[in-house]
Amino acid sequence: MPVSPKKILILGAGGRLAGSLAECWRAHHKVTALKRPELNVADPGALERLLDSYDFDILVNGTGLTNVDRCEQDREEARVVNTVAPGVMARSAEARGARLIHFSTDYVFDGTQREPYTESDVAHPCGWYGATKLDGENEVLATGRLGMVVRVSWVFGPAKPSFVDALISRAQTEDHVEAIADKFSSPTSAVDAAEWIEPFFNLDLPGGLYHACNAGECSWQEYGAHALAVASEAGVPVRTTTVAPIRLADMKQFIAPRPIFSILSTRKLTSVTGISPRHWRDSLRDYIFKKHAPLSSTT
Ligand SMILES: NC(=O)c1ccc[n+]([C@@H]2O[C@H](COP(=O)([O-])OP(=O)(O)OC[C@H]3O[C@@H](n4cnc5c(N)ncnc54)[C@H](OP(=O)(O)O)[C@@H]3O)[C@@H](O)[C@H]2O)c1
Repeated sequence: MPVSPKKILILGAGGRLAGSLAECWRAHHKVTALKRPELNVADPGALERLLDSYDFDILVNGTGLTNVDRCEQDREEARVVNTVAPGVMARSAEARGARLIHFSTDYVFDGTQREPYTESDVAHPCGWYGATKLDGENEVLATGRLGMVVRVSWVFGPAKPSFVDALISRAQTEDHVEAIADKFSSPTSAVDAAEWIEPFFNLDLPGGLYHACNAGECSWQEYGAHALAVASEAGVPVRTTTVAPIRLADMKQFIAPRPIFSILSTRKLTSVTGISPRHWRDSLRDYIFKKHAPLSSTT
């Protein structure tokens, strides 16, 4: 069903997900995209005043303290950004009859399950990042019927480099690249996510909690190997397409515990919108051809 043009206020537009969403939605909606330094969500009073000064139908929160190791160390900042700020946004949106679309994470799960997590599975975060994000979800969901929490995982998109972009860069200068082979999730295309979420601009669709990621699952190693194979096919001068396996336990620099299995079921999203996310391999292929292929191979 076509969605009528909306006034969308996007917070955290310097981020990977929000920056990509802003670009996708600009074509059909009036998008105002805020990022630092005009926005500091760590100051709840200033955030409230800022929201009061804008007119919007849809508020999108793409901010977050997303470095999971930093969250273990800067615990209070993580709590304010990931928990307190979404509550301020949810109350501001609800008070004016606007929908808040807030993003959360597969890291609210501890990763002990062996089948895809649904929205009704009980979340048990294994680190401070996941704990603050889960509390932020609850702030949003407690506010009213317009609030919407979208859990995503392993986001890639044009607005900011992610794991796959870093790996493609490394493979252009190094013969040996490696990635974790015993941690599993589902990549999420930020560009695809813009399409999955747009139907919710229609307030007749129910808010609440949703999982949104591409179909299929993989380890970081499989994810990286597919990225390098596609990059090579697209004409990117990579020196290898082999990604050597390493174990999560070997990542001694990691501070935060991480879930080893955090695949999200998107059945609810499909049942409400009728949209079935395509396989991550297809989305990633499109992304790499658009973003990384030398101009001569795309024309
Ligand atoms: N990327 C993933 O794989 C992934 C996976 C699961 C869930 N998510 C969720 O998706 C959402 C977006 O993530 P992302 O990947 O787009 O992360 P990102 O690239 O790190 O973007 C987050 C943005 O929030 C901004 N921010 C942080 N603290 C702020 C503050 N006090 N005031 C204003 N802005 C602030 C950051 O600005 P600075 O860069 O200037 O700090 C950054 O632009 C988050 O809710 C995250 O939990 C992401």
